[in-house]
Formats: sequence, structure tokens, C-alpha cells
Amino acid sequence: MPPFTKKPVKQDIAQSPKRISSLALTLLLSIGFITSSGIVTAKTLVVNSPNKQIQLELTDDNQRPEYRVLFHGQPIINSSKLGLVFQSLGEFGAEFLIGDSHATEVNSKWQQPWGDREWVIDKHHGLSTQLSNGKYHFYVDIKVFDDGIGFRYRVPKQGVLEALNITQELTEFSIAQANKATAWWIPARGWNRYEYLYNKTPLTEIDRVHTPFTFKLENGVHMSIHEAALVDYAAMTLDQRRDGILRADLTPWSDGLKVKTHAGFSTPWRTIQIADNATGLLNSDLILNLNEPNKLGDVTWVEPGKYMGIWWGMHLNENTWGSGDKHGATTKETKRYMDFAADNGFAGVLVEGWNTGWDGSWFHNGDVFSFTETYPDFDLPEIAAYGANKGVRLIGHHETSGSVTNYRKQMNEAYDLYEKYGVTQVKTGYVADGGDIKRVDDNGIIRHEWHDGQFMVNEYLHSVTEAAKRHISINTHEPIKDTGLRRTYPNWISREGARGQEFNAWGTPPNNPSHTTTLAYTRMLAGPMDFTPGIFDLAPKGLDAVNRVQTTLTKQLALYVVLYSPIQMAADLPRNYAKHPDAFKFIQDVPTDWQQSIALAGEVGEYVVFARQERGGKSNGSDWYLGAITDDNARIIEIDLDFLEPNKRYEAQIYRDGDKANWRTKPYDYVIETQVINAKDKLTLSLASSGGTAIRFKALD
Ligand code: NOJ
Ligand code: CA
Repeated sequence: MPPFTKKPVKQDIAQSPKRISSLALTLLLSIGFITSSGIVTAKTLVVNSPNKQIQLELTDDNQRPEYRVLFHGQPIINSSKLGLVFQSLGEFGAEFLIGDSHATEVNSKWQQPWGDREWVIDKHHGLSTQLSNGKYHFYVDIKVFDDGIGFRYRVPKQGVLEALNITQELTEFSIAQANKATAWWIPARGWNRYEYLYNKTPLTEIDRVHTPFTFKLENGVHMSIHEAALVDYAAMTLDQRRDGILRADLTPWSDGLKVKTHAGFSTPWRTIQIADNATGLLNSDLILNLNEPNKLGDVTWVEPGKYMGIWWGMHLNENTWGSGDKHGATTKETKRYMDFAADNGFAGVLVEGWNTGWDGSWFHNGDVFSFTETYPDFDLPEIAAYGANKGVRLIGHHETSGSVTNYRKQMNEAYDLYEKYGVTQVKTGYVADGGDIKRVDDNGIIRHEWHDGQFMVNEYLHSVTEAAKRHISINTHEPIKDTGLRRTYPNWISREGARGQEFNAWGTPPNNPSHTTTLAYTRMLAGPMDFTPGIFDLAPKGLDAVNRVQTTLTKQLALYVVLYSPIQMAADLPRNYAKHPDAFKFIQDVPTDWQQSIALAGEVGEYVVFARQERGGKSNGSDWYLGAITDDNARIIEIDLDFLEPNKRYEAQIYRDGDKANWRTKPYDYVIETQVINAKDKLTLSLASSGGTAIRFKALD
């Protein structure tokens, strides 16, 4: 089926870590001093990155574990506390001292079944250290890469420890010279989950924020705090306790506990990406490297690709999800979309509003959704057969409106039904205010949970693993943030988790020109996003209307390259593509699976330029693509083409803003031109206000 066929790949051929002498890796300082209870030996262990530019120090100098981080010899994270607090046992932190350590050195690479690059290099120095208070012990595992650090806690089974409830995590991030740092952030624990416009403020002005939390020091060093492998644990948000001191603030259960677990658990990795400049953050694989290898085995059934959908019409109010005259999800309309998709090389058609339960106020009443009963004007068997004949798949949709118990009850049957009709990808949705996810507990009592608490972290993963059993991939909307779990569960193919295109139809306010130039350095560090680019009718209600797309048309094209996702939607209505067939060609051509990706230039929130090489596909991996986008400021960017293969000629098919273009008054002023170039050339990109350039480099030799 178009657009790609995929060969099985071996995943994660990592060599086993070498055990190396701890002295080769760490510098051990032991200092004896006298306390009332006698002589105590404090230890400091140092782990260097392979290129020696990052240093993490772990110490118990203050009679508790603390760490600090240096970059190019300068402190970037000052001494920061480590530890956890348990309901029954109190603090695992104060009075826990450094015991035995085990150092490792890894230099390997592993292969992704799909991704923004095929091969990922995992090169790091690791250290596992026991911390003990004489009665209990736990471990801190540390990994230091050239692009940042990760650490996690491990609490093994020991003695009487069984069920454990975590009431607090003590992890701190004490930012060096925080009073001169600038941060880009969205608030945590808000009603709109992750769907906020980003704020840019001095770091000391933040309150409680989501991760990835990106900031820049005065000397230009860029960092982003996040987490990797969030499984069976609550999401970490960051709470500024005192100026510059951010503490891990775990999203609680409805009963106030943070995490319900058992001895023998490990926390997600706490991560800090560290780079000399903004693009350094984008060229990092830290988060993926800190996730477990693929647990699903052969995943050739997970297919990247492009899709269209009965979707934007509902957001524009031309159609309805519910039944009636304007019902979007009809057999007739789905066939029309399938025809258009087949004619234009799209792999699938998403259909929302096909199942009963949308009538009335679906935002607040997910209990009435059926995930198996279709509206009478939607004939699932007929549509599936029609699509199979055309080589276009139906993409499924399950909106839960946050009533997860209702979804759980029907999940098996719902996925079975889709499997039966050849649906291999399902978009799920959890529209409900933050803190208002509705579940019925074992005693029949209704509880309200956060989207990013432990309960929902488990619920999202449950849907992914259940779907995997039927070879179905999941694209989660209103999701838990991404923490790189696509490595372990490659059928978790994409997700939302930020303001997407939909806000331009009805958001108050809609996305501003710097939204996507900020997303690239914040949300996108977590993983792929189903942003749904490609709107060509940028202002259906007129250029002066509040709700419109605040970009030029070619910026919409460039987003396909800039905002990585293995599935990309052509989000607009077919009739709007028919008006610009020349520009639509780029959306038809652009792949969604990449051999490699390079962020070439940019500044957080201002602009970004990405180059990506096609993986396999129509060009058999020889074509490259470039996407450049800017904020409200027009700008000229000179780009070296030395990422291209030397001694090869390429036809650069350039889709750029016209000379008079600007997003406010002339968003449709664009030029398409071609030029023959090679790796020695430079290109000057001229971007209009909230404009963009999209280029296909078609290999000629
Ligand atoms: C919110 C999702 O982000 C959007 O894509 C979808 O159309 C609606 N929910 C309805 O499920
Ligand atoms: Ca949404």
C-alpha cells in the first residue's frame, strides 16, 4: 500500500555495556571529617561525558545525595538534592550515603524501524551507585552523554519493603546563574493540559511548568529538562521553589498520593539536554537512548505515511461529528475522500464522528460513546472494502471525552472490530479538562484524575499494548507527554500534546506566528507530534478574522519537514488543495520517514531550518528535503548545502514566499522555482513575516 513498503529491520543491536574500572571513569574523592558520631567519610564521584565536556558530580558531602553538572568546566546545575519520600518509610535522601558503585562505558548504535534517523548512536558513560542509611538502600543510575545527562532512582526489593506509596520526589534542578536565564514554558496542572501558547520570560518568573522545559543561559548554553521512559509513574512537572531552584513536582492521583508502587521499581530517567546553541538541542537523541529497546518484536506492520481526513470541516463548523444534515462521517463523503487520497498518493483517510455518542454535548459526556456502533449513514464494511480496492486505508477514531472506564469496557471489542476491517491506525482522544478524567474505581466510586498522573500514564500505555496485539498503531490526542516510548512500543506512532492546527479554527487566541518556531525547541524535543499541517485556505472567514492561520502558505509546507511525525496529515479540505495544485505537489512528494535529520540553523522561538534525507521510499533514499520557518519577523538565512552527498547534482525544487508575502495581508504570495545545485553551493532563503521555505532536493545523478 502506498506510499512505502518496509523491510523487516533488526532493532536495537546494542552491544552489552563494558564493565570498566571505576577509576578509569570516575574520580573518587574521599574526605574525612568529624561529627558528633565520629569520623564520616564523604565521597564525590565524577562521571565525564565521552567527549569530556559534560561532568556530573555525585556527592554525599552534606550527609545526603546531591549532584551538580558542569559544561566546559563551568557549573550549569549547582548542587541539587536527590531523593524520594515514601508514605510509610519517610525520606530516602537525608542520611543516605554513597556506597558501592559500578561504572560502565557504552559505545553502540541501534536501528529504528522508523524515525527521524535510521541509526541512533548510544555513546555514554554510566554509573550506578548505592545509597544507604544502614537500614534501607536504593540506587542512583547515571548516564552522561555528549548531549546531556540522565539519572533515575532504583528501589530494589529488600527486607520487609512491599507496597510503597510515593508522596514526594525530592529531585532538584538548581540552575546556575538562573537570574540571567531565559525560559520558554507552558504552565502545568492547568485546565487545558499541554495546549497553551508558550511563554518566554526570565527563568525566575516561572511558577509550575511542564517538561520539556527549555531555557538558555546568558552565555548561550541551551538546556532542556525532561524525562525519559515514563512508565507506571506520575509525570514530572517542575515547581520553582526558590529563585532558580526547580523541584520535581509529580502530578498526583485524585487521593493526593503521587505514585503507588512496589519495591523493585525504578523511576523514569530525569534528563537534561545540554548544548552550545539552540540547534544542538534538536540534534540530540538523549531521550530515545534512555528508553528500553523494542518490546514488540517484528513491527513491519507499523507504517509511517500521510493521511487525509474528515476532520477540518468539523473544526470549521461546515460539518458535524454528530448526526444530522451536516454529518461529516457518511459513506458517501468517506468514499469521496478515499478517491481523492488514492488519486494523490495518501495512505489513509481518518474519519471522525462515525460512531454513536456524538450528539449533544460530547465534550462533557463520554459515557455515551459506543466504539462499535456506527451511525446509520456510515457503512463500515462497505467503506473498508472500497478503501482496500483503492489502496487507501480507513484510519480509525476513538474520542473518549475523558471517560476512560467507558473506553476500557469496550476496548477489546473496539480494536477487534477495527482489526477485522483492516484498520491499522487509530487516533484516540481524551478531551476533558485537566484533572477531570473520569474513572469509576473498584468500589464503583467516580474519581477524577489528571491526564499526566500515574493512573492515566498506565491507561495510555494499556491502549497502545492492546492495540499492538492486533497490529494497530495509536496516535493519541490529549495524550500524556512523549518520553521516547516509541522506541519500546513502536506502534505508539504519534501524538498531540501541544496546541495543534485545530486552534487556528476556533482557539482564543489562535496560534501566533512564533508558536511553531517555539514548538520545535520545546514540545518536539519529546518526540513526534500530530500537528496536522497543510492548511491552504488560511483565512476562511477573511484575512481580518481573529480565527485564521497566522502563516504564509509556504510556511504550511515547511512544517512537514520541521515538525517531525512519521504520520503527517494533509489537513485541509480537498477543494482547497485543488486551488493550488502546484504547491500541493510538495505535500504529495514529502516523505514521513527519514534516513537522517539535521537541524541546520535557528534560535528558540525565532526560526528553525531542518534538512532531512528520505529513508527508502520513492527516491530510494537519495532525495533530501529542507524546511525553514520564521516567526513574525521576515529574515534572510544563508544555508550551506554541504549536508548533500558530494559530487552529485540535485534539482532543488524551491517553494518560497513571494517578494510581497507576509502572513497578515499576502499569505498566498508564493513562488515555485527550480535550480540545479550541488553540495558546494549555498542557498539564500528569504522568509516573509511568519513565512517559510520548503525544498525538495531531487537527486539527478
Ligand atoms: C481534539 C483533537 O485534537 C481533534 O483532532 C479532534 O478532532 C477532536 N478532539 C474530536 O475528537
Ligand atoms: Ca486537542
